[in-house]
Amino acid sequence: MTATIIDGKAFAASVRDKVAARVAEIKEQNGITPGLAVVLVGEDPASQVYVRSKGKMTVEVGMNSYEHKLDADTSEEDLLAIVEKLNNDPAVHGILVQLPLPDHLNSDLIINAIDPAKDVDGFHISNVGLLGTGQKSMVPCTPLGSLMMLRDHHGSLSGMNAVVLGRSNIVGKPMAQLLLGDSCTVTIAHSRTKDLADVVRRADIVVAAVGRPQMVPGDWIKPGATVIDVGINRIDAPEKGEGKTRLVGDVDYDSCAEVAGAITPVPGGVGPMTIACLLANTLTACCRANG
Ligand code: GUN
Repeated sequence: MTATIIDGKAFAASVRDKVAARVAEIKEQNGITPGLAVVLVGEDPASQVYVRSKGKMTVEVGMNSYEHKLDADTSEEDLLAIVEKLNNDPAVHGILVQLPLPDHLNSDLIINAIDPAKDVDGFHISNVGLLGTGQKSMVPCTPLGSLMMLRDHHGSLSGMNAVVLGRSNIVGKPMAQLLLGDSCTVTIAHSRTKDLADVVRRADIVVAAVGRPQMVPGDWIKPGATVIDVGINRIDAPEKGEGKTRLVGDVDYDSCAEVAGAITPVPGGVGPMTIACLLANTLTACCRANG
């Protein structure tokens, strides 16, 4: 079997088009422009790339983008003061503090200082609790984008066996909650899981979010299963020339694509959906704030 490639890039473009159309309507009918504030502390190169691309796409869908770039040695007090200012700014509907933060800053404290209604990452403890109890919340963008692709491909996910590889607060745990909400039988597997290959082989849906390049080989995949690869790992690519690198996921794409029924590529799978969902969450926050 050769897997169907789930084209996250095209799907994300269609989500952004829908967001842009709704933003235009809100501007026209209510005179309101949704606004997203992104706070970056320090100069982590990967974070700088993400923040730049978030800002560019925010503007492309017609929203206002507010970027706050702070020195790596910014104090917790100063960062909390900025978050508070954004919480009280009616032009800001969504707030995202880029992670990871420098070690001297307490991420939990900062994230939980964000107004939950503006927490477009869905990381605030209130949103985590609302999601866990099946109530209306802000849903973390990467799991939300992954769920949208799964629903689009399968229609109903009810009764499917889903294995989520990885137990992070950002992806693994909320992904498991969302799949449970769609009536999957969910297993969260991690580095201590026994007989991991056998656990993964039982899955109709595999979501890989472990941050380890090409960790899942094709012979772990049940024939016909759907594989969602959340990993974005940069590895050496000597075949492209000296010092060159390339991006790979957490699954070994070539061998998994031979066995799976459907698979997301890296790049061009989950990644673009994450930013599209961030924009969708910002729109949702704006609509909720304005009745
Ligand atoms: N760093 C890597 N991914 C994310 C994300 O989805 N949100 C935030 N705030 N930081 C990140």
